[in-house]
Amino acid sequence: QPPSTISPSLLSLLASSPFKNRHVLSVNQYTRQDLHVLFTVAQEMRLGVQRQGILPILQSKVLCTMFFEPSTRTSASFDAAMQRLGGRTIAINTTHSSTQKGETLQDTIRTLGCYGDAVVLRHPENESAATAAKFSPVPIINGGNGSREHPTQAFLDLFTIREELGTVTGLTVTFTGDLKYGRTVHSLVKLLQYYEVRINLVAPKALALPNEVREQIVASGQLAVESETLTPEIVAKSDVLYCTRVQKERFPSLDEYERLKDSLIVDNSVLKHAKSTMIVMHPLPRNNEISEEVDFDQRAAYFRQMRYGLYTRMALLALVLAA
Ligand code: CP
Repeated sequence: QPPSTISPSLLSLLASSPFKNRHVLSVNQYTRQDLHVLFTVAQEMRLGVQRQGILPILQSKVLCTMFFEPSTRTSASFDAAMQRLGGRTIAINTTHSSTQKGETLQDTIRTLGCYGDAVVLRHPENESAATAAKFSPVPIINGGNGSREHPTQAFLDLFTIREELGTVTGLTVTFTGDLKYGRTVHSLVKLLQYYEVRINLVAPKALALPNEVREQIVASGQLAVESETLTPEIVAKSDVLYCTRVQKERFPSLDEYERLKDSLIVDNSVLKHAKSTMIVMHPLPRNNEISEEVDFDQRAAYFRQMRYGLYTRMALLALVLAA
């Protein structure tokens, strides 16, 4: 086992970090150059983990995580990322927290700021990330705020595309599923504005992308095709097929959810029209929108995508917290 080392190039990137001590609330905060720094560090993390398992960059730091909505990937990957950087984590269980006694979000956040050097927060309200940032003495990392954004998922999604396909430039990215409530789509679409891409939107009208997000795609000239069904022609032209779950928890009516939940399903009969190099992505968890038979196709990138999330979140934590 070689000794744990940190390369001089990584140290230099961390020293001039544009993320240092800053909140991570929305993808709107970042330039293409910031993304470049993040992905360069994420690549260093990938190599570092493969070589030595742990990179002792945040040994003196503590990360608090608090998820007011269920999570497996975001919570576990932030925890794993912090531990692989030599730091420590405190995961607050919301069902046993003083939120149950009526404590406000701002008081909860002030409290966590007394114990941790940064806080990862997931919350069902769209305004929660901004509220937390207003009252927090330490950086807030938005782990998903209602149906609005999931910035760290968008970072890892872009990193996945770069690692899997070598570049983002020139690609056709097709989004399918719940584009209305799918916050990962909202964040990723905004980041794609920095790249020369064509974007296809495939969703029933009731699950269409919110106008304000769609207008950004139109304004940038990226919108290629809009459709209510995933046609063979759309699949054949796609380099990335980004699927999303229909977000039951956001629906005002369960009947409406039942009507829409299985409207778009990707199975092997869909993939037979796809390029051999196309990748299928999904932020997960999934329900029925990707059949399990697809898991055995090399183009299914959604499990690899979770691993890229570890490297991306390690990079982000190091860039926010390294001294
Ligand atoms: N992609 C994602 O946010 O997954 P979790 O809800 O499991 O964190």
